[in-house]
Amino acid sequence: MVTDNQELDIEAVARDAAQRIGASTSTDALNQVETELLGKHSVLAGAHRALGGLDPGARREVGRRLHEVRTSLQTQLAVRRTELAEAERAVSLVADRLDLTEVIPDHVRSPLHRGHLHLVTQARDELEDVFVGMGFVVAEGPEAESDWYNFEALNMPPAHPARGMYDTMYLNIGEPETVLLRTHTSPVQIHLMEQAVRDGTLPIHAVMPGKCFRLDTPDARHLPVFNQIEGLVVDRDITFGDLAGTIQGFTEAYFGPGMQSRLRPAYFPFTEPSAEFEITCTICRGEGCRTCSQTGWVELGGCGMVDPAVFTAVGIDAAEWSGFAFGFGIDRLALMRHEVPDLRSFLENDIRFLSQF
Ligand code: PHE
Repeated sequence: MVTDNQELDIEAVARDAAQRIGASTSTDALNQVETELLGKHSVLAGAHRALGGLDPGARREVGRRLHEVRTSLQTQLAVRRTELAEAERAVSLVADRLDLTEVIPDHVRSPLHRGHLHLVTQARDELEDVFVGMGFVVAEGPEAESDWYNFEALNMPPAHPARGMYDTMYLNIGEPETVLLRTHTSPVQIHLMEQAVRDGTLPIHAVMPGKCFRLDTPDARHLPVFNQIEGLVVDRDITFGDLAGTIQGFTEAYFGPGMQSRLRPAYFPFTEPSAEFEITCTICRGEGCRTCSQTGWVELGGCGMVDPAVFTAVGIDAAEWSGFAFGFGIDRLALMRHEVPDLRSFLENDIRFLSQF
């Protein structure tokens, strides 16, 4: 503690202080220096307290000089603080730099890759493209249907034996109406015909893809939830030749030329005559295997000329209009085209399988 201001060399203190301020290399160090130079326990504060012991002339003289030195040191501290803050900011800007343009080399890239559409969705999209190219429009209908749309309007009255091959999940039975998960996309035919009659917009050339539901036990060719693409043409003078030509055209567009196919007589209540469309099994090339149940053929769907009873149900004059309809299994089409031996692979979600397509 300095008690005699005459003995304190204020100029030496000022020089020493200026040197320490300039030598501080961080804001923290500078704060420390500031406390030591100007704080309560500093040499200058002590000298200030000791002013009282001086005679009036010396007190004024020393007091003025102490004040100058203090003010000068405060200015130097502020200047140095700004310099240090700028330097520290520059350092942290470099250290925290984030290069958003960085190119990550393949060998360190994360294994997350962008996915793609499921094979069945790809097949649906491709089929839509093929049919749009042939002049069809694409339509859709609900997955839960009333008894009328799924059965009755399609010429399957209650207790009709043909209902037997379409067992499904019923959402409601009886009042106010029976509602079920649709067993095929054919009910969309009824929606489109009713609408065209209402709006006076016949003819119809439409395809209708969508999910269907049946109480089938899963096996290589069957799933209880599957996808169909329905087709409906209602126009004047439509013949079975138009139907066969349309199927031929779409088969070649989807499978490429050279696919062996056949139409086999069949029965559906809503078409007359009816046929089943089959292709040579692509897994065994017709030899017979598990996928085709040793027959060499795989049925892809049903088709036929719209039954006049269906036209009557929706109020279309069967003497003026004729038409054909078909319903193909999208999953089976994809199965055959990509030579996948078992439909269940589509649902197992094994990424090694799915990423091949
Ligand atoms: N809806 C029939 C089925 O799922 C297929 C079909 C559609 C048959 C259109 C004829 C006409 O079995």
